[in-house]
Amino acid sequence: MRISLEGQVALVTGASSGLGYACAEALAAAGAAVTINYHSHREPAESLAEKIRAHGGQAIAVAGDVSVEADVDKLIAAAVSTFGRLDILVANSGLQKDASFGDMTLADWNSVISVNLTGQLLCARAALRQFRQQQFKPELSRAAGKIVHMSSVHQVIPWAGHVNYSASKGGVDLLMRSIAQEIGEERIRVNAVAPGAIKTAINADSIKGGAEEKLLELVPYGRIGVPEDVANAVVWLASDLSDYVHGATLFIDGGMSLYPGFRNNG
Ligand code: BGC
Repeated sequence: MRISLEGQVALVTGASSGLGYACAEALAAAGAAVTINYHSHREPAESLAEKIRAHGGQAIAVAGDVSVEADVDKLIAAAVSTFGRLDILVANSGLQKDASFGDMTLADWNSVISVNLTGQLLCARAALRQFRQQQFKPELSRAAGKIVHMSSVHQVIPWAGHVNYSASKGGVDLLMRSIAQEIGEERIRVNAVAPGAIKTAINADSIKGGAEEKLLELVPYGRIGVPEDVANAVVWLASDLSDYVHGATLFIDGGMSLYPGFRNNG
C-alpha cells in the first residue's frame, strides 16, 4: 500500500543529516511539502531541498535553533508562509555530549537537555498553536495535526556515560504522552519513534571497524538499522493509516529493547 500525504505540509527539525534528513526525504516522497530545518549545516539541507524539488516535490530549507523560542516561531512561520499551513511536525533535532558522570559538565547537561527536550517542547507547542489557528481540512487528513517526537531506545534503557542523553529521552517519553493526553480531543495525534542502533553520524564511532560486531550482540534481529527504517515508520505515523495510534512510542530497534542479555537464560 502506498501512503499519500499529498497536499499536506511537514516540518522536520534537524534535517540536514541522519534521521531527520531521511524523514524529510520520505515525507516528500509521500507527497508532503517539506520544511527542512537545519542548525549549522546549510549546504546539505539546501541540496536536499533542491533534490526534492528536482523530483517534482516542494521543499525549503530554513535555519534555526530549536532550543530558541524565537527561532522555532520563525520556522513555523516559514513553513506556513511558503506552503500555507502545517499538518505534520517531526521534532527530530537531537545531539549527544557524552561524558562519564563524574566528568560531565553542566554545559554538557544543558546543551543536551535544551535541544533534545526543551527543543521538542517548543516545537510541539508552536505546531499545536498553528494547528489550532488554521482550518481543519478532513479531505487532507482525519487528524487536525500530527506530531512525531524523535525519542530513542534510551528512553527505557539506562546508558552509562550518557546520562544527559538518556535523561533527555526519558523526558521525551512523558512529554509526548502528557501532551497526547492533553490535546487528543482536538484530534491532534501525538506519538514518538524510539530508534535503536541506526547507521548515522551520531553513532559512527560505535559502528566503525570491529565495534559493529559488538553492537550487533545487542540487536536480536541481527542487523544495524538504516535511516529509512525510521523514516518509513514516521511516514506511517504521519498518515491516516495510523489514525487510531495516539500517545504511542514505536520502537524501531531490531529488538534492542528486549533485554538481549537474557537471550541465553540470563
Ligand atoms: C543513540 C545512538 C546509539 C543508539 C543505541 C541512539 O539513541 O543516538 O548513538 O547507538 O541509541 O544505543
